[in-house]
Amino acid sequence: NKDDRISRISSSIRVIPDFPKPGIMFQDITTLLLDPKAFKDTIDLFVERYKDKNINVVAGVEARGFIFGPPIALAIGAKFVPMRKPKKLPGEVISEEYSLEYGTDKIEMHVGAVQPGERAVVVDDLIATGGTLTAAINLLERVGVEVVECACVIELPELKGRDRLGEKQLFVLVSST
Ligand code: PRP
Repeated sequence: NKDDRISRISSSIRVIPDFPKPGIMFQDITTLLLDPKAFKDTIDLFVERYKDKNINVVAGVEARGFIFGPPIALAIGAKFVPMRKPKKLPGEVISEEYSLEYGTDKIEMHVGAVQPGERAVVVDDLIATGGTLTAAINLLERVGVEVVECACVIELPELKGRDRLGEKQLFVLVSST
């Protein structure tokens, strides 16, 4: 039953107030990972959604997209592509800058990791403002990849990240207020 699975996932996520700074309610997925059934249900729900959609690429955003992305990629027979913080990838990279509350940040992907015409899902643990996922989408689209959807475990709807993604579909398991 899908609702039971979602409930278990939702209650396995720990909320830590005032981390990393005052006023932030941090959504900690490490407690979800400690519950093998909740972790498996999380992966299964994504796999059920993407298995028959001709997805070639699962792109995972550092750091927690590296936890959820690879098991999904393996299960659906897609490649896994890490999208990393600057200066981490050793080969030639393509990078995309995005704005934060104060300043900017950047994510990078290896040149040649994906091919034009491939179909991708972008995976992360959480969408807040949507800046990170927007940058990931832009990177992939710049090299001709079709981004079918973004997938996150948690959405913070108050921050309206979904709006920032525009027409792009967003699939989430849990909404958090
Ligand atoms: C968090 C989260 C997403 C991003 C979402 O990562 O895991 O990647 O923020 O925020 P946004 O929707 O406002 O862009 P964080 O910045 O904590 O980096 P980390 O995963 O490397 O710790």
